[in-house]
Amino acid sequence: AGLNTAAVALGKLYFGSATDNGELSDSAYVTQLSNTQDFGQITPGNSQKWDATEPSQNVFTYTNGDTIAKLAKTNGQKLRCHNLVWHNQLPNWVTSGSWTNATLIAALKNHITNVVTHYKGQCYAWDVVNEALNEDGTYRTSLWYNTIGEAYLPIAFAAAAAADPSVKLYYNDYNIEYSGAKATGALRIVKLVQSYGVKIDGVGLQAHFIVGSTPSRSNQASTMAAYTALGVEVAITELDIRMTLPSTAALLAQQSTDYASSVGACVDTKGCVGVTIWDWTDKYSWVPGTFSGQGAACPWDSNFVKKPAYTGILSAL
Ligand code: XIL
Repeated sequence: AGLNTAAVALGKLYFGSATDNGELSDSAYVTQLSNTQDFGQITPGNSQKWDATEPSQNVFTYTNGDTIAKLAKTNGQKLRCHNLVWHNQLPNWVTSGSWTNATLIAALKNHITNVVTHYKGQCYAWDVVNEALNEDGTYRTSLWYNTIGEAYLPIAFAAAAAADPSVKLYYNDYNIEYSGAKATGALRIVKLVQSYGVKIDGVGLQAHFIVGSTPSRSNQASTMAAYTALGVEVAITELDIRMTLPSTAALLAQQSTDYASSVGACVDTKGCVGVTIWDWTDKYSWVPGTFSGQGAACPWDSNFVKKPAYTGILSAL
């Protein structure tokens, strides 16, 4: 059995991976990405973000996002769609526009309506709002929050729900996988959207972790349970576990244990629908480009050889 077949056998909906358009010219990469024994779901790492989909105001470009949606369809994989509202990867017309509350709400709704309508029927879920929180659980002072206030969250979820009533709508963030102020903030967001009478279906736990300092399986599971107690599902949406390079046998063994803790927490939680890793091979991981001196975060190495982490994940499923 592979990762996906084992997850599905346990009643999960999928085990999946992020991918990106530039990687799809690597045929050996595509072969493994398309192996539904391991991956029953894919997420576009970049090509559905705002800068990719609406580079100029009201001019929508879906070519790259469609390539990944089509690959998922061809392979019979679910698609997690990512993301609609974020403070990063915004085009210049958004970041340097001069906005009022009313004009920014109109631009936000127009973006969400267009993108969600375009992908209607193709996504299992949308990450509607990504990373709205500071580490202390207060709202991040993004353009969205500064101009619209916390109402931008229910406004975004309502626009997405109107455009595709069937797709699951998620709030997605990192460092909300364990108990603490930021997780409390995420719980507050779920309740906020619900208090507006607006649909929110899930909380996405990004799970960008560091080898040897991941939260315990029981803490991750109890934090998941706090979300599901509000009537929403959860998913691990961007799992990777990085280390300071070079990797050693000891670090790879600890990484295997750490992967098993996170995947195991999802197994322990009835409302956890699936796990997505933020690409499957170190060859294309975002980690070395973002965290200087760190890497080796994925379950397969840069030569597409399975690392101990692969076996660790499988042992948890
Ligand atoms: C990352 C992509 O993987 C990179 O290619 C890109 O340069 C930056 O964004 N949290 C998220 C993802 O929600 O969208 C981010 O993806 C990683 C952190």
